[in-house]
Amino acid sequence: MQNEIQGLKNAVPPLLQWYGVHKRQLPWRGTRDPYKIWVSEIMLQQTRVEAVKGYYVSFLEKFPTAEALARASEEEVLKAWEGLGYYSRARNLHKAAKIIARQGFPRDFEGVRSLPGVGDYTAGAICSIAYDLPCPAVDGNVLRVLTRLTADGRNIDENATRVAISRLLREVYPKEAGEFCQSLMELGATVCVPNGEPMCTLCPWQTMCAAHLSGREEEFPVRSEKRARKTERIFVYVLEREGKFALRKREERGLLSGLWEFPNAAEDESAAYGTVLAEKTAKHIFTHVEWHMTGYLIEAKEFFPRFLWVTPEEMRKNYALPSAFKAFKEWVK
Ligand code: ADE
Repeated sequence: MQNEIQGLKNAVPPLLQWYGVHKRQLPWRGTRDPYKIWVSEIMLQQTRVEAVKGYYVSFLEKFPTAEALARASEEEVLKAWEGLGYYSRARNLHKAAKIIARQGFPRDFEGVRSLPGVGDYTAGAICSIAYDLPCPAVDGNVLRVLTRLTADGRNIDENATRVAISRLLREVYPKEAGEFCQSLMELGATVCVPNGEPMCTLCPWQTMCAAHLSGREEEFPVRSEKRARKTERIFVYVLEREGKFALRKREERGLLSGLWEFPNAAEDESAAYGTVLAEKTAKHIFTHVEWHMTGYLIEAKEFFPRFLWVTPEEMRKNYALPSAFKAFKEWVK
C-alpha cells in the first residue's frame, strides 16, 4: 500500500503539468460556481463531452441559478433537456434545485451526495472542482487510467475495485484537487482512451506506466463480459388531422418514463388509424435495448380522444420528445 501511494504521488506533478498545457477549453472549465459545475457533471453522466457542450450553454442561459431552475415547470426543464437522454437526470436536477433554492448549495461531500441524482462520482467531482476538497471521482475513465498506470489486474466492474482505488486516490490528492480530478478525466478522454490504441507517445506517464512499459496496455482494464442488448420491434404512428398531431404521455415507469411520444405499439395497427401517407424505418439504441422502428405518417380518420392533439409549433415549443423518435419528427410540419 505504501509503495502504491508513493508511486501515485510521484505521478501527480507530471499529470498536473500536462493538464495545464493540454486541457481542452470546455464551457464549464473556469467557473467555481457549484451550481454550474453540478449542471455540467449531471449532463456529463453517460454522455459525451461533444454532445453536452451546446446543451450546457443554453441550459444555463435559461436557468442561470438554482433559484431560476427551481421556479421553472418540469415540462420546461424537460424541454431544455430534449435529446440529451436519461431524462430522470433532468427530473432529479429540478427536484434538487428546489432544495438548493431553499438551503443554498451544500458545502461538503455528504451534503452534495445527498442531493437527488448525485452519486459518489458526481459528488466527488463537484466537491473537487468547486471546493478543491480531496474527494475522488472514480468513473470508468479514471479506473482505466489508474489500472493501466499500475498494471492492476482487478476487475473494474467490481465495486471493491472502485472502493480500493478511491481510497488510494484520497491519499495522494494534491491541494489543486479540482485540477487533479479533471486531469485524470482528461487523460482518460483524450490520451488513455478505451478500445483501440491508447496514445502512449503523448502521455505524461509514458516513463512510469506499468502497462505501457510491459507492452500490455491493451490488457487493462479487466472488465466483466457485457450483456447483449435485446431488440424490440416497434410501430410508430405520426397521426395528422387538420394540421394537428397526436402525442401521448408514457407511463411513469421504465424507459423514457413520463415523457411525451408519438403513439406506438408492438403490433402494426396503422390501418386502424386512417390512411397511410408515408412509411420509413429507423433504429435507436438505448443502454439495454434497441428499438427497431417502422414509422407511419397517417391521415387520421378522427381526433382519437385518448391522444393530445397539438400543432407543430406547440410541439416544438412545449413538448420534449425523446431522440428515439427523431427520424419521424420531420413529418411534423
Ligand atoms: N466527464 C465528467 N466530468 C467531466 C468534466 N468536468 N470535464 C470533462 N469530462 C468530464
